[in-house]
Amino acid sequence: MKFGYFDDANREYVITTPKTPLPWINYLGCNDFFSLISNTCGGYSFYKDAKLLRLTRYRYNDVPMDINGKYLYIKDGDTIWNPGWEPVKTDLDSYECRHGIGYSRFTSSKNDVQASVLTFVPMNDTCEVSQLKLTNNSSEEKTLSVFSYVEWCLWNADDDSRNFQRNYSTGEVEVVGSTIFHKTEYRERRNHYAIYSVNAEIAGFDTIREAFLGSYRGAYEPEAVEKGACTNSMASGWQPIASHQLNITLAPGETKSYVFVLGYIENPEEEKWESYGVINKTRAYAMLDRYKTDADVEKAFAELNDYWKKLLSKYTVKSSNDKVDRMVNIWNQYQCMVTFNMSRSASYYESGIGRGMGFRDSCQDLLGFVHLIPDRARERIIDIASTQFQDGSAYHQYQPLTKKGNSDIGSGFNDDPLWLIAGTSAYVRETGDTTILTDMVPFDNDESVATPLMDHLKRSFDYIVNHKGPHKLPLIGRADWNDCLNLNCFSEHPGESFQTFGPSEGPVAESVFIAGMFVKYGEEYAQLCELMGDTAEAERARKEVAIMYDAILKDGWDGEWFVRAYDAYSHKVGSKECEEGQIYIEPQGFCVLAGVGVKEGLAEKALNSVKEKLDTKYGVMILQPAYTRYHVELGEVSSYPPGYKENAGIFCHNNPWVSIAETVIGRGDRAFEIYKKTCPAYIEDISEVHRTEPYVYSQMVAGADAKFFGEAKNSWLTGTAAWTFVNVSQYILGVYPTHTGLSINPCVPKGFGDFELTRQFREGSYNIKVVNPDNVEKGIKSITVDGKPVEGCVIPYVKGKETYDVVVTMG
Ligand code: BGC
Ligand code: NOJ
Repeated sequence: MKFGYFDDANREYVITTPKTPLPWINYLGCNDFFSLISNTCGGYSFYKDAKLLRLTRYRYNDVPMDINGKYLYIKDGDTIWNPGWEPVKTDLDSYECRHGIGYSRFTSSKNDVQASVLTFVPMNDTCEVSQLKLTNNSSEEKTLSVFSYVEWCLWNADDDSRNFQRNYSTGEVEVVGSTIFHKTEYRERRNHYAIYSVNAEIAGFDTIREAFLGSYRGAYEPEAVEKGACTNSMASGWQPIASHQLNITLAPGETKSYVFVLGYIENPEEEKWESYGVINKTRAYAMLDRYKTDADVEKAFAELNDYWKKLLSKYTVKSSNDKVDRMVNIWNQYQCMVTFNMSRSASYYESGIGRGMGFRDSCQDLLGFVHLIPDRARERIIDIASTQFQDGSAYHQYQPLTKKGNSDIGSGFNDDPLWLIAGTSAYVRETGDTTILTDMVPFDNDESVATPLMDHLKRSFDYIVNHKGPHKLPLIGRADWNDCLNLNCFSEHPGESFQTFGPSEGPVAESVFIAGMFVKYGEEYAQLCELMGDTAEAERARKEVAIMYDAILKDGWDGEWFVRAYDAYSHKVGSKECEEGQIYIEPQGFCVLAGVGVKEGLAEKALNSVKEKLDTKYGVMILQPAYTRYHVELGEVSSYPPGYKENAGIFCHNNPWVSIAETVIGRGDRAFEIYKKTCPAYIEDISEVHRTEPYVYSQMVAGADAKFFGEAKNSWLTGTAAWTFVNVSQYILGVYPTHTGLSINPCVPKGFGDFELTRQFREGSYNIKVVNPDNVEKGIKSITVDGKPVEGCVIPYVKGKETYDVVVTMG
C-alpha cells in the first residue's frame, strides 16, 4: 500500500494522506539553521547544534505521537482546522504534503477555503520562512482568523527537558508590533535570541502557553482559538510560546498571502557587554526586511532551488529504470547531504541531545557527500581529525557546536582510526587536492600538538599495526563498526550484569572486520603516501597489508565464510563452531570488497554463504542464527530480541557492502538484487509493512526472526545513505574517482540496457554513454574519449579540460 507518490519532475514525494504509518519527515536547511518537519507539521528547529541551541520544543516519544510542531490554525466560523491536519485533526476536504529538496509544501482545504503553506530555510540565512496563502473558493465573503503557534525551547534541549526547578523561572519575551522576541537567558549570555514574526498587522498575540492553550489542554484544542481571540499574554517564566492572531476577510475567489519568519539572531561577541542585557534588534529587523513580501520569498525560494539543481547535476543518470534514476538523481544524494549535516544528532529517532557527530559515522557520510561540496567535506575532515588522539585512536563522538570530543563516550572503538583514511582518501581522489594532507591538524583540539593531516593518517594506520591480538588480527577494543559487539566486557562473574561499554578494554578480542578494513584502507593509505612522494612509507604500508591479508586467510576463514571475530577467550564469533550467530555479514562484505580471497576463490564462497544463510525478501540480515539468549561474552548484540537491530536485523548499512562485493567478483544480477531489496523506491508499494518514509533509507529493517519482519526503524540518519550511493554510483553504474582520473567499469544486471551519465569531476564535465550490446554484467570492450580510444578503464585526468565526451562499450 502507498500513502503518496513520487513526483520526479519536481523532485518531490507527494503524501496524499496525513495518516501515514509513522510521521514522514523532511529536513529544511543546508548550512547552520535546520528544521525537521513532518507531514503533519510536527518538528522543531535549531541553530548548528540540536542540543545546545534548540529554538523550539519537541517531545519525543509522546502520545499522541508527533504533536509538537509549528502550527497554523484556521478558524472559519465554528470550524477550526490546520493545513497539516495536526494537531486539531479536523477532517479535511483535501490534503497534500509535498516534501521537496529543502522545503515542504502543504495544500489543504476545508469548507471552500484553501490553505497552502510553503516552508523552507533560505540559503545563507538563519531562519525558517513559511508563506501561507489562503484562498476563498466559495461564492461568499469569508471572515477568518488565523493563529500561529510555536513553543520555545529554552535553548539547551537537554537542560530544557530536565531542569524544571530553574527553567520555570527564566523565560522572557518581548513583543514589538508583529514580532515576538524570545530572549530567555539573554541577560546572562547576551549574544543570541529568537524571533517569530509575520508581515502583517496582528489582531493579538500570546506568549504564555497556558493563556493560549488553556489549563489542562493541549495544542489540539487551544482555548484562545476556540474563543477566537488571543489574550495578549506576556510570559514571565514558565513556558514561553509565540502565537499571532490575524483577522482576515476574503472576497469570493480572493487569495491573501502572509509570510511568517522564525529566526535565530546572534550578535557578535564584541557587542556582548554593550547591551546590558537589552537586545539589539537591528539584525532581527534586517532579517525580517529580507522576507517582507511575496516577491522576497519567491526570490529566496528560487535561490534554494537553483542551489539544489546545481548540486544534483554533479552526478546524474538516465537509464531505462526510473526507480534507479530517481534514487540516484534525487533522493539518495539528498539523504547524503542530510546525513552529512546531521551525522547522528537529530531525527525522529535521534533526540538531538544524545549522539552528536560520530567519528566513524561522519567519515562514512563523507563518502557519499564529497562530490557535492568538496570544500565542506574538507572542513569536516579537519574537524574530525582534530578530535584524534596522539596514539591514533579517537573520540568516538564530538559536539557540532564546540567541535570538541565527547569525553562521556571517550574512545576505544578500534575501527574509528581507519575511517579517517577512508574519508580523506575519498576527498583527495575526488578533488586532487593534496594540500589537505600537509595542513596542520591538532590532536584532541589542542593546537600546541598539531601535525600534518598525513601524519594523522599514519597514526591511524599504525594504531591497527600496533594493536593486534593472538591471531595477528586487529584488537576490537570496545567494539568495531558493530557497536554491539562488546567482546571485552569480561565475564569474570558470568551471569552478573555489567556495563555494556565497561571499563575493561580487553587486550585479546580481535576483529576480522577491522582486518578487512585495514586491507582496503591500508592500500588507500599507501596510495596517498605515493602521491606525497613517500615511496618507502607506501612500501611499508603494503607489507603490513600483505601480513594482514595472510592473517585473514589463516585465522579469519571458516571454510565457507569469513569469521567475524575472536572473543576475549579467543573463541570464534561468527563461525560454524558457534551455537548461535554462526555467520555475520560484515566480514563477508568488507573482506571481499577489499579484495580478500578473490584470487583464492574464497570470495565467491563467502558471498554464496551470505545468499544461502542471510538473505531475505527484505534484505540481507546481519547475522544468523539470531541469538535467542543473552551471551555475556558478546555483549549488547545479544541484548536485542531476535530479528531486531544488530541481533539479526537487516542492517541496511552493510547491505551495500555485500552488493559492492558482488560487483568486485562481477555478479551484476546479484549486486542489483541486493540493491533493490532495501532501496526505498523499490519498496514504496509495501509502505504499510515498511512504515518509514518511502523516499529515504532507514537504518534497520526487522529481520526474519522478528515479529514485525520487514518493518523499518531509524529513518534518515544512517550510513546506509552514503554507502548505497557509493554502491550504485561507483560500483553498479561504475563511475569511480581515482587519483589519476575517473574510472568507468559498470557492473549491472542482465537486461539493464544502455544508459547515460553526467559526472562533474574536478573542473571537468563528463558526458558518459554506456552501451552494452552483448548484455554482459561486467567487462569493458572499449572506451573512447572525444572519439579517441583509451587504454583500460581510467580516463586520464587532464588539468583544465572542461568537457569529456565518453563512450563506454561493455562486453
Ligand atoms: C545501537 C547501535 C548504535 C549504538 C550507538 C546501540 O544501542 O544498537 O545501532 O550504533 O547504540 O551508541
Ligand atoms: C549505528 C551507528 O551510528 C554506527 O556507528 C554503527 O556502526 C552501527 N549502528 C552498527 O552498530
